[in-house]
Amino acid sequence: MHSILLLSGARHLQKPLQESLKRRKLNYEVYDIENKNFPDSEQYVRIPVEKGLPNILVQSMFNEPDKKIVETILATRTLKDLGIKHLTGFFTYLAYARQDRRIKEGEAVSQLIIVETLFKAGIDKVFVFDVHARKESMLYKSFDITNISCVKLFANYYSNLRGKKDLIVVSPDEGSYYMASELAKILEVSSGFCKKKRISGSEVKIGEISSEVHDRDVIIIDDIISTGNTMAEAIELVKNKGAKRVFISAVHGLFVGNAVDKLKSLGVNDIATTNTVMSEFAKVDISDLIVDEVYKLNKNGQS
Ligand code: R5P
Repeated sequence: MHSILLLSGARHLQKPLQESLKRRKLNYEVYDIENKNFPDSEQYVRIPVEKGLPNILVQSMFNEPDKKIVETILATRTLKDLGIKHLTGFFTYLAYARQDRRIKEGEAVSQLIIVETLFKAGIDKVFVFDVHARKESMLYKSFDITNISCVKLFANYYSNLRGKKDLIVVSPDEGSYYMASELAKILEVSSGFCKKKRISGSEVKIGEISSEVHDRDVIIIDDIISTGNTMAEAIELVKNKGAKRVFISAVHGLFVGNAVDKLKSLGVNDIATTNTVMSEFAKVDISDLIVDEVYKLNKNGQS
C-alpha cells in the first residue's frame, strides 16, 4: 500500500485528499505525522512507521513558518534515514518565498535558502502552488521544483459568472496580472490591473487602475492575502470608481492581524481562497491538483 504523510500544517487536507484519491481510484493511505512540543518549545517528530513508509509528504508552512520548516527538515531527513529513495514534497504554502532576490546589499534571499535547505535535507522533488519567481530566478533552474497554478480552480469557482458582459477580473498589482489575465481568459471576460506602490512591509498605496470598472462586477485576484492591505486598497479603488459587486480571491489566505475585519468591513460580496492554508474562506480545494501529480509519480514508479 502506498502512503502520503501529512505534516502538521497540512492536516486539514486529510479528508479532501482521501476523497480525491478515491475518485481517481488510487490506493493510498493518508496519515498524520506524530509531533509534539517539548517544554522549551523544541519539536519532537516521529514518522508512524507502523502505518507504512511514505515517499510523499505534504506540508503547509503557515502559520508559525519557522516551526513548520524545522518540522519539514526533521521529517525529510528521517524518511531518508529510514531508506526512502525518492521523496516528493508538496508544499502547499512555501514560507519565506516572497524574498526572491537581494534588493538591498546584505539581504538574505530567503526563498532560495529555504528551498536549498529542504533539498539538502534529502527531498528529491518539490511541488509548490503559485509561488512568484521571476524568469531569471535560480529557483526553477537549480532545483527539481514545479509550480502549480490554482487559477483553473478559481475559474470553476466563478463558473456561474462565465461570459458575463459586465464582468472584469483585475489584479491588485502588476505582479499578479498573469493570474487575472489567465482567469479572465478562461471566463471569457476582460481583465485589468491596479498600480501598486509598496511603502513598507505592511503599507501599500494603490491609486490607479488600467481599465474601466464603472457599473461592472469585479473579481480581484491575487496570490496572497497577508495583512489584507493590498486587497483593501484595491477594493476601495474599484468601489470609488463605481464597481457594482466585488468578489475577492487569493490562492493563499494568511489573514494576518485584523485582515479579516478590515476586508469584511469594506462590504465585498464574497471572499474566497484555496485551502493551501486553512481559514474560514478556504472554499477552493486543491486536492485534485495534488492527486493529479501523485497519479503521474505513481505511473513513473516514484511513489
Ligand atoms: C505581493 O506583491 C503579493 O502579490 C501580495 O499582493 C501581497 O503579498 C499581499 O500582502 P498584504 O495582504 O500584506 O498587502
